[in-house]
Amino acid sequence: MFILGIESSCDETAVAIVEDGIAVASSTIASTKEVFSKTGGVVPEDAARRQVECILPVLHTALKQAKMAPDNIDAIAVTRGPGLLGSLLVGTVTARTLSLLWGKPLVGVHHTFGHLSSVWVDADEEPQFPCITLSASGGHTDLWYRESHTHGMLLGRTRDDAAGEAFDKGASMLGLPYPGGPSIAKAAEKGDEHAFDLPLALSGEDTLDCSFSGLKTALKKVIRDQQPITDNPKLIHDLAASYQYAICLQLVDRIKRAYKQHPKTEVHLVGGVSANIRLRELTRHALPETTVRTPTSLQYCTDNAAMIAAAGYFMLRENKNTATEVFETSATMPLDEFIS
Ligand code: KG4
Ligand code: ZN
Repeated sequence: MFILGIESSCDETAVAIVEDGIAVASSTIASTKEVFSKTGGVVPEDAARRQVECILPVLHTALKQAKMAPDNIDAIAVTRGPGLLGSLLVGTVTARTLSLLWGKPLVGVHHTFGHLSSVWVDADEEPQFPCITLSASGGHTDLWYRESHTHGMLLGRTRDDAAGEAFDKGASMLGLPYPGGPSIAKAAEKGDEHAFDLPLALSGEDTLDCSFSGLKTALKKVIRDQQPITDNPKLIHDLAASYQYAICLQLVDRIKRAYKQHPKTEVHLVGGVSANIRLRELTRHALPETTVRTPTSLQYCTDNAAMIAAAGYFMLRENKNTATEVFETSATMPLDEFIS
């Protein structure tokens, strides 16, 4: 079954065609990261305008690269939220129009569910359930236990900033460009991650939640005490490395706690933050006995349409064609709250 996926929740305009949730026929993306690197973050109005400009050329390229015509497509999947409203409207209106015009079924996909499906995209070996999945991006940080694609329980989530947001805000404090994750990771390569001892949040609590606001404040205080940092590259590298290490340690600590509750499961890292090499190393080091999977390529860690097409396929296959049915309501997280 060939699904055409559309992702336009933030600043990326992406269209992909994926067969049976795994084989990528094409995956096209127009990114505005460079534009927003100048503004230090995404400007919603500008992101929506870029989406309007890019959506049709990107759609055209995806069909051309896959050497496919609308007749070859079995269904359309689109990110229905959460995200920036203006950006989401471009993708959802396009998807509805194509669905009517081509006479194909339409599936609305929760953005996080797209990330959860991203380890299947282009995988040589099919990932296995049950699994623990850390989904960490600029907008969310969630820890899931899943028994199938559409059956799962939210174990924990961030109580304040998302992990990617912590990278972005930390980078801005250190004078490094947006997006913060890759620029902190690059600066950290030359730094000493033990140079500054930054706090591990909620360590005394029996919880699978995360918190990054205290860490951000701690970084702010160190920067204030060490002023000026601007002409001191060694200090910036050490701060970047220590800050990255502190974010990763907290994420790995929560994964380890979840694994204790659900042993013998695979562990999946998804979302923009899963591109972080240090996070991957520390997770594999902490759990040598299990398989730790990440998306097969960096392009499937950050926002992309192949993961939306894959998620749409799994929803259709498991007869869950509305996003409200995607996850079973659990005691820890009522579904309504998850979707909102
Ligand atoms: O999944 P994504 O593309 O968009 C959202 O759904 O938010 O994630 C973007 C986030 C940004 O906060 C970015 O700084 C972070 O992922 N990110 C990284 C890395 N690459 C992207 N964080 C840490 N290390 C990276 N290498
Ligand atoms: Zn995302």
